[in-house]
Amino acid sequence: MKLIEAKNYQDMSLKAAEIIQSVLANKPDAVLGLATGGTVLGPYEILIAKYEEDSLSFKKASSVNLDEYVGLPSDHPNSYYYYMNENLFKHVDFSANQTHLPNGVADDIEKESERYENLIDGLGGIDLQLLGIGENGHIGFNEPGTPFDSATHKVKLTESTRAANARYFDSINEVPAHAITMGIGSIMKSKQILLLASGVKKAGILEKIVHEEISEEIPATILKQHGNVIIIADQDALSKLNSAHKQLLNT
Ligand code: F6R
Repeated sequence: MKLIEAKNYQDMSLKAAEIIQSVLANKPDAVLGLATGGTVLGPYEILIAKYEEDSLSFKKASSVNLDEYVGLPSDHPNSYYYYMNENLFKHVDFSANQTHLPNGVADDIEKESERYENLIDGLGGIDLQLLGIGENGHIGFNEPGTPFDSATHKVKLTESTRAANARYFDSINEVPAHAITMGIGSIMKSKQILLLASGVKKAGILEKIVHEEISEEIPATILKQHGNVIIIADQDALSKLNSAHKQLLNT
């Protein structure tokens, strides 16, 4: 893993966007694995600005998102489809048929999971997977206890994840109980992974990644086994780590 220290959220966002930009510069038809949530909004804003100033294009690229809520149609303002459209896709030059999310309203979620996993493989795998991280170490919607070899699958969201995501809904009761997510195995197949963390709320989990053994109880610890992970974290997210600990993220 390689740790890049950022001063703050803005700096983290800029550094993340620059890495995505360089992936596209080296491979214009790259497959980008994308995430939703608060952390990636800054990077998306910067990518849009770079696109507008002509310094990057998504024309030949494709994207696959990590996850989607079960039961929310694509035009629901809280669906991840809607989020991606509002916060990235409609502002840049991705071709409509080259951006992919799991279909949360498919009749058969098991079949949809299989279709999505095959789609990723059919695209040749993910060149760069962007990840945020849950306070409990979840990546995608893979909650503690998810098998490390899992493929795309349906999950029951934990109460803590529903509570963390309730800020986007009118009330916690409206947060769907289930989601469809790439599995840990799907994520680990990515050629490169870019994990972003910002804010004191993420300090505890970064500390655990350093100190704890690799365990399904802390899903993100598996990233220590991937040969090509970059973590960009800001000062607040790194506030529980001294310089020796930070070195351990650079091995
Ligand atoms: C989003 C996702 C989640 C988030 C994580 C962090 O597609 O899969 O794992 O990345 O919950 O969310 P934020 O960035 O809102 O703190």
